[in-house]
Formats: sequence, C-alpha cells, structure tokens
Amino acid sequence: MSTDRTGTILVTGAAGFIGSHTCVDLLSAGYRVVGVDNFLNSSPRVLERVRKVATGEFEFVRLDVRDRDALAEVFRRWPIDAVVHFAARKAVGESVEMPLEYYDANVNATLGLVGVMAEHDVRRLVFSSSCAIYGAVDRVPITEDTPARPTNPYSRTKWMCEQILADVCAQDQGWHITSLRYFNPIGAHPSGLLGEDPHGVPNNVMPFIAQVAVGRRDELAVFGDDYPTPDGTGVRDYIHVVDLAEGHRLALDHLGDQAGHRVINLGTGRGTSVLELLAAFSAACGRVLPHRVVPRRPGDVAALVADATLAREALGWTARSGVAQMCRDAWEFQRLNPAGYDDEKGV
Ligand code: UFG
Repeated sequence: MSTDRTGTILVTGAAGFIGSHTCVDLLSAGYRVVGVDNFLNSSPRVLERVRKVATGEFEFVRLDVRDRDALAEVFRRWPIDAVVHFAARKAVGESVEMPLEYYDANVNATLGLVGVMAEHDVRRLVFSSSCAIYGAVDRVPITEDTPARPTNPYSRTKWMCEQILADVCAQDQGWHITSLRYFNPIGAHPSGLLGEDPHGVPNNVMPFIAQVAVGRRDELAVFGDDYPTPDGTGVRDYIHVVDLAEGHRLALDHLGDQAGHRVINLGTGRGTSVLELLAAFSAACGRVLPHRVVPRRPGDVAALVADATLAREALGWTARSGVAQMCRDAWEFQRLNPAGYDDEKGV
C-alpha cells in the first residue's frame, strides 16, 4: 500500500466496526486521521488497537456528532480536508421500536455535520449508506439505479440522508460527496486485534455464528429455509471489512474526480446462503457448528447481491477476499477475544 497521501480526514464513528478498519486503512495510506465517537455501540479499547495495527497520526475526540459545538471545535483545531461519516444507529428491528432516536441519530446528525462542514468550508464527504435502501428487489444483482424502496425506519434514514446530500450538491457545485451503499460487511482485521463486537445479543448472522463457535451461544437460529434460493435460506453478498475499508479510501481518493453526489455499491457480486456461511465458518474453526431452523424473521428478504461494476469503473475497487477468508479472520478475532474488546485476557 502506498504511503504518499497527505491530508487530514475526520472519521465519525471511528471506534465502530467499519470505522475502526477504515481508520487503519487511511493511516496506513499516509492520511492523518481525526476520529470521533460517542461509544454508544463501541468500546474505547478499539482506539489502542487501531494504534497498534497502524502507525501514523491518529487523533481522537469523544463526542456525539449531534453536538454541533463540539464538532465545530474539531474543525477549528485541525485542518480537516474531508470527512468519512459512519456514526449512526444501525439495527433494523431497533429502528422500528425507537424511530425518533434513529431519525435523530442518523438524519439530524448528518444535517448538523453538513452544516458544520459548510461553515468551515469543507465540502468533501464519503457517506456510509446501505443496500438496505433497495428493500425487497425483483432481481439481483442490484445496480445503483435500482429504485430505492426502504422498508423500515433505519433504511429510510439512510435514504433520507442520501437525498439531503444530493440536494446540497445540487445547490452548491463546490460539494463532492460519495454515498457508499454497502452490502453485508463481515470478517475482521487479519491481526486479530480488530473485529466485530456488538453489545448484547448479536442481530447479525456473522457475530452470532462467531459467538456459537466460541461457546457463548448454543446454536444458530436459521431464520427460514423456505426462501426461493438454492438451499432455501437467505442469500446475502458478504464483504470483508478490510475490503470495505479500502473502498472508503479509494472513494476519498476519487472525490475530486467529479463534483456533486454520487452513489456506489460496495459488494462482491457473489451471494452466499446462511447455511453456506455456517459451513464456511465451521471449516474455519474446525468444528461443525449446530443450527436449528426457525421461522423467517419479519422484514427479511430472500436475496441481496450487489452489481459491483460501478465501484470497479469509478474507483478501481474490487473485493479481494472470499467468504472462506472472511470466516477465518472473524474466527481469529473471536478466538483471541472470546468476550470481545472487554475481555481482559484479549490480545
Ligand atoms: N440470519 C439468520 N440468523 C440470525 C441472523 C441472521 O438466519 O441469527 C439470516 C437472515 O435471515 C439473513 C442473513 O442471515 O438471511 C443475514 O442477516 P443479517 O442480520 O446478518 O444481515 P441483514 O442482511 O439482515 O442486514 C444487514 C445489516 C443491516 C442492513 C442490511 C441490508 O445488518 O444494517 O444488511 O439488507 F440494513
């Protein structure tokens, strides 16, 4: 990886799963990184790990992005060139239970951030969006021009943010914004130092499987085996978090290519079923992991797979890792950190 990049990048949600891996990538590429996070769904210990994995200038401020004064202070203190905005709430089910918190944490925070950026004459932004905005699609792979049909408050917040960003760009040609719609990020840093460590019972399949493997959960509940997919279980486009992090760096590098708002999928273009993922993880950890089929989870769709052509053409990005590697890296993190970041015996 080249280390000739200059510039100071503000990363919001820097202690999160994708944020921390992106900080490592940006630092390794030569950027100076200023991270901010409120640790709502992450651990301060992540910061030491980022510093262990990557050398470079990494500053950190604990703040909530909705606190405009605290955010403005960051822009006064450092010469921010561009922002990568991850900080958000991200659980679909929770968003149905507490919609106002989701609109506040996701939409309000983004409005505030963009306002503070404009006040400080910073108009370069990479926004963390989601394939969730496509909703139940008629066919896969999914291209970026597939109409958005968000089906829950979480995905509506991401869709609203994209529209706000598009409107901002339409009004002022000085803005350069890329919204990255990611598919299903899994895996971990190959060092075993950084990975996914959700608070409470994991909502997502990969951290749940990893916790079964390490003995924290008995078995994986497979949500339905009657979908119109080859083995009847849900198919997703799983993407290694390290590949995803690289996608953010390339999106930053290419922000100057064109003014305005653009939208790019980040996925591998390959679909994997729940049972295939479980088999791959079993191979990685050397033990057949138990599962039980239960009814479908409300709101789930049969298959979501990216058409990743635009990412290749616009950013020169393609995913490197397959599901076997993603499982090996996720297992290594879970094995070395059985109770996650808060395990005193962790690496
Ligand atoms: N699944 C199980 N058992 C589990 C958890 C999940 O069988 O315990 C299945 C789901 O039914 C689905 C697949 O595993 O078929 C993946 O589910 P995840 O919850 O891991 O991921 P989702 O695709 O539902 O959600 C992810 C992100 C969301 C984002 C969404 C876009 O977590 O933030 O992708 O589709 F909105």
